[in-house]
Amino acid sequence: VTLSLTVEQAGDLTATGAATVALLVRDAAPGTAAAPLAAALGIDFAAHVERESWKGEAGDVLALPSYGTALGETRTVLLVGLGKAADATAATFRKAGAAVVRKAGKPASVYAALGETTPAEVTAFAEGALLASYAFTSQKSDPKPPSLTSLTIGVRRLTPKHTAALTRAQHRAAATALVRDLANQPSLDKTPEWLAKRASALAKKTGLDVTVLEPEALAAQGFGGILAVGSGSTRTPRLIRLDYKPAGKAKARVLLVGKGITFDTGGLSIKPNDGMAAMKTDMAGGAAVIATLQALPALGLPVRVTGLVPAAENMPSGTAARPGDVIRHYGGRTVEVLNTDAEGRLVLADALAYGIESCNPDYVVDLATLTGAIGIALGKRVAGLFANDDKLADALLKAADEAGERFWRMPLVEDYRRDLDSPTADLKNIGGKFGGGAITAALFLREFVDGRRWAHLDIASAARSDNDEDEISKGATGFGVRTLLTWLESL
Ligand code: BES
Ligand code: MN
Ligand code: ZN
Repeated sequence: VTLSLTVEQAGDLTATGAATVALLVRDAAPGTAAAPLAAALGIDFAAHVERESWKGEAGDVLALPSYGTALGETRTVLLVGLGKAADATAATFRKAGAAVVRKAGKPASVYAALGETTPAEVTAFAEGALLASYAFTSQKSDPKPPSLTSLTIGVRRLTPKHTAALTRAQHRAAATALVRDLANQPSLDKTPEWLAKRASALAKKTGLDVTVLEPEALAAQGFGGILAVGSGSTRTPRLIRLDYKPAGKAKARVLLVGKGITFDTGGLSIKPNDGMAAMKTDMAGGAAVIATLQALPALGLPVRVTGLVPAAENMPSGTAARPGDVIRHYGGRTVEVLNTDAEGRLVLADALAYGIESCNPDYVVDLATLTGAIGIALGKRVAGLFANDDKLADALLKAADEAGERFWRMPLVEDYRRDLDSPTADLKNIGGKFGGGAITAALFLREFVDGRRWAHLDIASAARSDNDEDEISKGATGFGVRTLLTWLESL
């Protein structure tokens, strides 16, 4: 995609080669600001708006004919609503950007006149457009490039901050697309080794340090959770570590941990066929961690970040872990595995314990497609946020709001903790007495964070979508990566 910014000039609209010309409209009224554009195009916007009783709500699109205008016959002219100007937020602009791309002819070359806009609005609009143009086509015999070929954004006033905002959007959209690509990849190819190789290649390209622990090293250092979960598969587990070191002094030391189950059958506690195909995206948290890390060198943020992705394939077989087995996690804690389908917490426990010991972090954030229960609680578009620190929770919620990803803070209910006590081992890996499966899962993880400032993002439901909608794509959504990047920028 060729991305550019320009100072909005009436003449641009007719001079542009773009096949789609979009005008963002506030208060459903093209207004006097659009008058020069209207004149240049030879279109009476107000008349169309009135004839179609167009409401111009956020993301509403009115397609106008271009014949008989200065644009000739073949262009598409779109009026794109921003709703009430006073209420317009970054989310409004993100929606508008997505709406333009979804309504534009394919392949899409777009000129979008935004009018008076802030840098944050430019980021949001461009993000929406870029994210909506995503499609996963690599498995087709005839893979297609993204539908958006060029996007020119016209603004009333162009400052260096606007230019930086566009570059920022490009990095964030690329990071999201990377998560989508990794998570949409079928598990036939996507083994733990494959994921580690992809992470290593990205690290080399962007200038991160990378370390991959293979099974021998995992055994030698006591990663009993990762090994147990991976033990049923011939495709052996890995622990992927990426390190970003800023050029100057770091403002904070951050540990990010992402669940990297490359396929989750449930193991011997096997899942029903319904929904099992979706378990190729059970490494979406890990992919978000990889994508966040690889974006940091280009963004140049002054934070020291380590990303850990415990990667394993959860399969049933003669070598798989059995319900009732007791495993020993990194650091020595023992866990009775009563359900092999509660595997995410087992690999995360090892990675959290190891990461905290080795990095001494100020903040720990994990992302995981951890429980079906979070989707029951919050539905498909909202992820759960658990935290043992209010300031960290608030900072993440604020970042998520800016990034256009919805989280809802969930409680770490102390009374439920005793449901994880095991008569046999230090802990068991599932509760049962109280329900609230997302909460018991979070309480399990908390046992391994050593009292550090920690947040756990349960993205099980938000990481996938059944359909294209606004900036969200069918299949893997890439949820979480933009929240993490926004939060890291805020430190
Ligand atoms: N990967 C699943 C969670 C999941 C479910 C993600 C649906 C996306 C959509 C996880 O490993 C799992 O199987 N969790 C179990 C936990 C239970 C056995 C305590 C679940 O949610 O059913
Ligand atoms: Mn599972
Ligand atoms: Zn899982």
